[in-house]
Amino acid sequence: MALLQPYRTQQHRAEVRIQANEWPEPNPASRYVAADDLDRLLLNRYPGHGDELRKVLAERWRVRPEELILGNGSNEVLLGVFLVFGGHGRRTLLFQPTYSMHARLSVIAGGEAIDEMIGLPYVLRKDRALDAMDRVRPAVVVFTSPNNPTGNAIDQEVILAVAEAYPDSVVLVDEAYADFAGTTLVPQIERNPNLVVSKTFSKVRAAAGLRVGVLAVHPELAGYFNAAQLPYNMSALTLAVAVRIARDEASVERRLALVASERQRVFQALRAVAGIEAFPSIANFLLFRLREGVPADVHARFLEQSVLIRDVSNWPGCERCLRVSIGTPEENDRFIAALDTVFSPSSIHR
Ligand SMILES: Cc1ncc(COP(=O)(O)O)c(C=O)c1O
Repeated sequence: MALLQPYRTQQHRAEVRIQANEWPEPNPASRYVAADDLDRLLLNRYPGHGDELRKVLAERWRVRPEELILGNGSNEVLLGVFLVFGGHGRRTLLFQPTYSMHARLSVIAGGEAIDEMIGLPYVLRKDRALDAMDRVRPAVVVFTSPNNPTGNAIDQEVILAVAEAYPDSVVLVDEAYADFAGTTLVPQIERNPNLVVSKTFSKVRAAAGLRVGVLAVHPELAGYFNAAQLPYNMSALTLAVAVRIARDEASVERRLALVASERQRVFQALRAVAGIEAFPSIANFLLFRLREGVPADVHARFLEQSVLIRDVSNWPGCERCLRVSIGTPEENDRFIAALDTVFSPSSIHR
């Protein structure tokens, strides 16, 4: 524990910031709350339990409101899973490369993270997953789908096979990017009480700054999470804004269309660079691997063009890799133009 370094994304100044898989267009809070809404928000009182927010989300996902646990960002509900089901003497199984917080949070909760290296391309097969479960016997196994940093989805059949074969393990599915894929395992929770699914407002809902995450769980498990949760963990301001964001489906539809076309454009541009291997993605980011050269140098050369991307080359299984989030069309133009400077123009085939 003492050896854990604080979690920090790379904080450099840049005009084009496409390093954290956020939604790139400005989303001002004034879009959702007006001055008279603020007048009705009484800060001297403790907030409620987010009943209205849970009702809106429960209708959308066809579950009951009491099956939804709210947190300050999905990181908080993820930590809740490890606090309740991981912890001292218990193992968490992770399929690497994946979102680095899962390992951190399971260690913070006192448990042990065990890596199963899948590598790139990130294709997790059923026999591989079941074999790892058999060897590790984890209290918690995590599937991130679509996966960060690889951008592809894990076959739902693989996840369900694990949930069915290991009913005593908690199967945590991190669906931070699932809206981009248009799929979810939430409806399967009813038949698989050991399945828990996390979601976030930080990606397609364009509200990373608001900090809203949700965990969908079976009614049998909800009591454990409610017991472990800090009282009043969601602020009254957050809840008020989140309800309105949750109702704004039209914006989600528009963003999904924008990501699909922009991702294709950025992918083609990456594919045209001979020195790069780009991995197909269904999320709002793309992973690419350098055939030669040093990732830190490439990262720095993008930064010279005021384009900030993410060097993920020190993530397990991601040697020589960088990740770029899909930005606004103008930001993507800047990234694509920077490719010419960062990589020698003769190596680009358009
Ligand atoms: C897979 C995955 N899960 C969860 C999160 C964290 O989301 P939140 O902002 O809801 O804590 C991220 C953020 O990048 C992520 O990539």
